Amino acid sequence: MTTCKDNKCPIILGIESSCDDTSAAVLHGSVMLSSVIASQQVHVRWGGVIPELASRAHQQNIVPVIDTALKDAGVSVHDLDAIAFTRGPGLLGSLLVGVSFAKGLSLSGGGRRAGETIPLVEVNHLQGHILSHFIDLPDRELPHPAFPFLCLLVSGGHSQIVVVRSPLDFEIVGSTIDDAAGEAFDKCAKVMGLPYPGGPVIDRLAAQGDPTRFKFAEPRVGSLDYSFSGLKTSFLYTLRDAVAQNPDFIAENTADLCASLQRAIVNVLMYKLIKAAKQFGISDIAAAGGVSANSGLRTALIAEGAKKGWRVFLPELRFTTDNAAMIASAGRFSYLAGRFSGLDVTPVTRVG
Ligand code: KG4
Ligand code: ZN
Repeated sequence: MTTCKDNKCPIILGIESSCDDTSAAVLHGSVMLSSVIASQQVHVRWGGVIPELASRAHQQNIVPVIDTALKDAGVSVHDLDAIAFTRGPGLLGSLLVGVSFAKGLSLSGGGRRAGETIPLVEVNHLQGHILSHFIDLPDRELPHPAFPFLCLLVSGGHSQIVVVRSPLDFEIVGSTIDDAAGEAFDKCAKVMGLPYPGGPVIDRLAAQGDPTRFKFAEPRVGSLDYSFSGLKTSFLYTLRDAVAQNPDFIAENTADLCASLQRAIVNVLMYKLIKAAKQFGISDIAAAGGVSANSGLRTALIAEGAKKGWRVFLPELRFTTDNAAMIASAGRFSYLAGRFSGLDVTPVTRVG
């Protein structure tokens, strides 16, 4: 049983609603007591997230999701030391649901002393992904990187290399100048007629394919930044030309296309990460965000780690895509540092 090692173990409710997952989780110190995620299926038929539908689904999901998270954790609103919520980045209408709910709950007088508000802690969604590496489970501690570490943060909206000096000190040293890695997966999947979100589908199909069959452009822009639009265009043109010759080209080659595309995206990600690790002399390397679930990327990180002597930290799969446990985890560090938000806090769609 993982228990609190000191008396600094706040009970924190995390709320995540930045995109298309409504999620709530309760942490006691670093230990996750509960985690509930309602993924919105409404977007699948449109091949991407429709913001208006996302906010409506959050509105429907938020009460039962939070209620279940509290019940699963065996705590009541009165036990909460703080409510951590995603302030941004994300979709405005989606963020508004989580932020407003957090404020309402804070004001509801459910604090530890009757009538007291519950302290609010805002969380940057991207920092939440990174700090998912500091969650423990009731029956076991999970591996935590040591500071400073380097984090490859790859999601549907962002691709960044971040130097993490402390739980409150992040320096983005590389960033995508166009599409994010997850976006590249999703857009290329759409071109092949695969369902949304395309990343996990490509990952699954790639397992049966030949990654050396097709060559796509692997753009390497300056410094530690990323670019994926050239890769996407090269994928699109390859398909367009091949389909002109053979209308069944995609169906006949799906697995090889997926494997080759995945390899190209992973190569692009790894190239700059290796460069950054060398430049900063850091050997604790973590990955975070939805794309860190990718099996090709995970294998490449482990292989490179063995070669370079890195300690590689890969989140459990459930902590790669959007979840509220990571928001509560990040919120815990702000709570311990005394960083609270006022009731006038508003969502921010873009950060930095
Ligand atoms: O972090 P996340 O859940 O949401 C954002 O903050 O964007 O990331 C979602 C992204 C999507 O683009 C999805 O296709 C991608 O993560 N993704 C994957 C895999 N699982 C999720 N991409 C590649 N391989 C996967 N196994
Ligand atoms: Zn995310």
